[in-house]
Amino acid sequence: MTEAFDAVDIIRIKRDHGTLSPEQIDWTIDAYTRGAIADEQMAALNMAILLNGMDRAEISRWTAAMIASGERMDFSSLGRPTSDKHSTGGVGDKITLPLAPLVAVFGVAVPQLSGRGLGHTGGTLDKLESIPGWQAYLSNEDMLRQLAEVGAVICAAGTGLAPADKKLYALRDVTGTVEAIPLIASSIMSKKIAEGTGSLVLDVKVGSGAFMKDEARARELAETMVALGKDAGVNTVALLTDMNTPLGLTAGNAIEVEESVEVLAGGGPSDVVELTVRLAEEMLACAGVRDADPAAALRDGRAMDVWNRMIEAQGGNPRAALPVAKESEVILAPADGVLVGLDALAVGVAAWRLGAGRARKEDQVQAGAGVRMHAKPGATVRAGEPLMTLLTDTPDRFERAREALAEAVVIAPEESRPAQQLIIDRIA
Ligand code: URA
Repeated sequence: MTEAFDAVDIIRIKRDHGTLSPEQIDWTIDAYTRGAIADEQMAALNMAILLNGMDRAEISRWTAAMIASGERMDFSSLGRPTSDKHSTGGVGDKITLPLAPLVAVFGVAVPQLSGRGLGHTGGTLDKLESIPGWQAYLSNEDMLRQLAEVGAVICAAGTGLAPADKKLYALRDVTGTVEAIPLIASSIMSKKIAEGTGSLVLDVKVGSGAFMKDEARARELAETMVALGKDAGVNTVALLTDMNTPLGLTAGNAIEVEESVEVLAGGGPSDVVELTVRLAEEMLACAGVRDADPAAALRDGRAMDVWNRMIEAQGGNPRAALPVAKESEVILAPADGVLVGLDALAVGVAAWRLGAGRARKEDQVQAGAGVRMHAKPGATVRAGEPLMTLLTDTPDRFERAREALAEAVVIAPEESRPAQQLIIDRIA
């Protein structure tokens, strides 16, 4: 087959700060997906994009080309609005679990395609798999049936969705090019647009435990993704939220499910409840539902009813006991004062080292492993009180988890209470 362009010319254009034409972009994504552009050529192009950027029109076309590389799902037969949420990932971020059933209470279908954890951030599928019997893999037909019957589904993305992204993401992961905003935005949005949701709320995390450590870059990512969504006809809104401190009081798998169920029962940590309710309000507004009261649906058990049906529809037993780690170790507060810092990255790395996460895609996670926190920033603590409990099945992991947490905790005198702001901004 005669190729329309030469990969080296395309690389040179971006290396020299040029702009790719729509035809060049379409060819690049297609040729890479079918193997006509080699990995080393795509790696060079990715690095040129990371260093020199892309303009709005290029990012939009790149995203469209990635969508065109695979199938597009269609939920129009459901006859009701659809809404999805995507988080850029953080520590203790279990919000999808209570959020999907909560939004479904109000007649909006939630098709939530989720992933697994890699590195220090947890994965929604890993958490749900700690529920005995629960299955992550559904056919498109089963997903549609569950959306019609239950209203919410959380499952693994099928292999047919944006295959170009799967190949590109794996390459970026090993070539230091994950952090390019045009590549992150197009990667996330191609999957969300191909999934066929009518509206989308993005939770863009900022802080030590997030992908984006500084607010300016997180804002740029959010603005780019919102524009891509709108260009594709998906009603899209983003919240910028804090990820310097873990969300809630648990980071792991089964312990995060347990905390999500507390939220669905009308309790749970206030930050998890606040973000769940706010994201539900945004999703419902984007889907055109007015005057809904998601906080009430958590208190009165309606969201829990949908949760139970959603877990059962995927083979899980929502009432079964969750796995518990075989071993635990407690970390005590070293001094009296106010806890002013509990570093999200350190807690995430500790949970990962305890076995809650994986270093390579093939690794197994431990369902019971993780970190249970007993205090959050703003709390008064006394020397010798338990601050955290480390959980694992393999006690030789405790030492490295403790090392990760060595600098994580900051205790200050009584008067220096921190100002907490979980939701930093809204970008529409
Ligand atoms: N998540 C994705 O799906 N893609 C990225 O590039 C980064 C995070």
